[in-house]
Amino acid sequence: MKLGVIGGAGLLGSTTAFCVGMRDVLEEIKLLDLKENVLEAHVMDMSQALLPVSKTKVTKADYEDLGDCDIILVTASLPERQVANRNEYLTGNLGVVTPICEKLKAVCKKDAILISATNPVDVFTYVYWKLLGWDKSKVLGFCVNDTLRFKWAIEEVTGKEFSKLDAMCIGEHGDGQVRLYNHVTYDGKPMEISQEERTAIEEATANWFRTWQQLDSKRTTGWTSGVMLADMIEAIATDSKAVIPVSVVMDGFKGYDHVAMGMPGVFSKEGVTKLIDVELTDEGKAQLDKTACKIEDMLKSIDM
Ligand SMILES: NC(=O)c1ccc[n+]([C@@H]2O[C@H](COP(=O)([O-])OP(=O)(O)OC[C@H]3O[C@@H](n4cnc5c(N)ncnc54)[C@H](O)[C@@H]3O)[C@@H](O)[C@H]2O)c1
Repeated sequence: MKLGVIGGAGLLGSTTAFCVGMRDVLEEIKLLDLKENVLEAHVMDMSQALLPVSKTKVTKADYEDLGDCDIILVTASLPERQVANRNEYLTGNLGVVTPICEKLKAVCKKDAILISATNPVDVFTYVYWKLLGWDKSKVLGFCVNDTLRFKWAIEEVTGKEFSKLDAMCIGEHGDGQVRLYNHVTYDGKPMEISQEERTAIEEATANWFRTWQQLDSKRTTGWTSGVMLADMIEAIATDSKAVIPVSVVMDGFKGYDHVAMGMPGVFSKEGVTKLIDVELTDEGKAQLDKTACKIEDMLKSIDM
């Protein structure tokens, strides 16, 4: 399969290209960005770096070169700044995403799969689906970092071994994420989390975002996101049927409509054709309802 990366000179576009390139699961990665010189430098550097470990080629692309790409990753965005939450990027990034949609619509294969990481992710997943007119199974938003951080916080608080933990976040990539405490397992068995531990886990995840923002590094989580995006791309390229939380357009799933949000999805070479219907507690369902209303309101605010 071939991957096109729009925003390929930026942190997330380039780290993802490198991480997935190292896995040797793609024929070619085509990088596209407005910053021509930085892009050229990444292509020159990465195409040599991958030679000892991978057959994946890395090339520089324009839109017309994306016609044979099976997967398109969009990480293009306005530069990072200090924000209270990711939704502050909405209006600015709408101006970035809308023209990209027009160009992709003109050049891409009809069965291409789009992955969007641009924040706010859930809103833009819906925007891409609406503007591109592609099947909803092929328009995917990147939100799995929340699940990774939930597992990290459980490890920090309980001292359990990360590799034996399983847990999941659904809902919004942002404050409206819903951590599914009733589905946490350790070594394949349900794991009890006390109220005290739960409070500490909530604090650890909230403090993580605050601390990151206070650094004002103008940097996103390029390493974490590069690794997790590479997981999604590898699952598609290898048709693995792996279950990964992903933002998708809801059309009646669990009673939600006119909104996109994170749900566990089964990844294949067709995209995400199946969602897993996780059981929610009354509290989880109430949280998810609130999140759906919030994302719907953001979509209304941009006339979607
Ligand atoms: N969903 C997540 O979990 C997650 C995680 C990390 C970052 N992000 C988001 O991903 C986005 C990218 O982050 P980053 O760290 O790579 O930012 P960055 O500033 O390093 O890179 C963005 C790149 O997009 C390019 N660009 C802007 N407009 C373009 C256009 N019209 N066409 C082509 N290229 C264009 C810029 O030149 C730049 O190279 C941000 O919106 C960030 O918030 C999401």
